[in-house]
Amino acid sequence: IPYKRGYLFYGVPGTGKTSLIQALAAHFEHNLCYVHLTHPRLTDESLRAAVNQAPKKSILVLEDVDAVFGKDREKFIKDSPLTFSGLLNALDGVGKADGQVFILTTNHRERLNPALIRNGRADVHIEFAHASDEQIALMFARFYPFSTPAMRQSFVGNLRSALASRVVTPAALQHFFIMHRRSTASKAMESVQGIVTELDLRADEQRMLE
Ligand SMILES: Nc1ncnc2c1ncn2[C@@H]1O[C@H](COP(=O)(O)OP(=O)(O)OP(=O)(O)O)[C@@H](O)[C@H]1O
Ligand SMILES: [Mg+2]
Repeated sequence: IPYKRGYLFYGVPGTGKTSLIQALAAHFEHNLCYVHLTHPRLTDESLRAAVNQAPKKSILVLEDVDAVFGKDREKFIKDSPLTFSGLLNALDGVGKADGQVFILTTNHRERLNPALIRNGRADVHIEFAHASDEQIALMFARFYPFSTPAMRQSFVGNLRSALASRVVTPAALQHFFIMHRRSTASKAMESVQGIVTELDLRADEQRMLE
């Protein structure tokens, strides 16, 4: 039985899917091979050739797989010669060389055809979600390494009350911490309202675009 593994990273934008892929590649000293499925001249044959040429110890990354084929295998990129079965065949070829894995990413797992992510292809599905209290505290600690556990807890408490029923992504938190990188931990603790103001602003902009 060949040892092969495929992964699906799914969840809302800004929760660390791409960042984790980069961290995994660095940690395990694997090459990262990005496959751009939306390329208009990608054929079944060229995809298969690309997969076969991937070096040993490499992670093949196929981002936003929901952009190419829908749940009923319908094709979204009109001029592309790639077929759904061509994609499946290519994925089945990953892992012939030692240490090869693939990672698919999507913001919408429910929009994928089950054949793409069934066992034997994407065996491990990992959901990336909005920041948990623990993640918020860890990020605070990362940016303010000299803060006390009590300060971390009150940052979480302040932020949760300012957020009320809203949720926050790790990406939005990172933005806040970078903006406050010259402030003290106490100043950051007092400024959590800024995260919420920014979230509401972004949500308004989004509504205007739609
Ligand atoms: N869990 C996390 N912990 C720390 N930082 C995070 C985390 N998730 C995201 N970030 C930060 O937020 C930014 C965006 O994250 P990333 O690009 O990995 O999100 P993504 O899940 O790939 O989003 P998308 O679905 O839009 O591609 C990065 O700069 C990253 O450092
Ligand atoms: Mg990403």
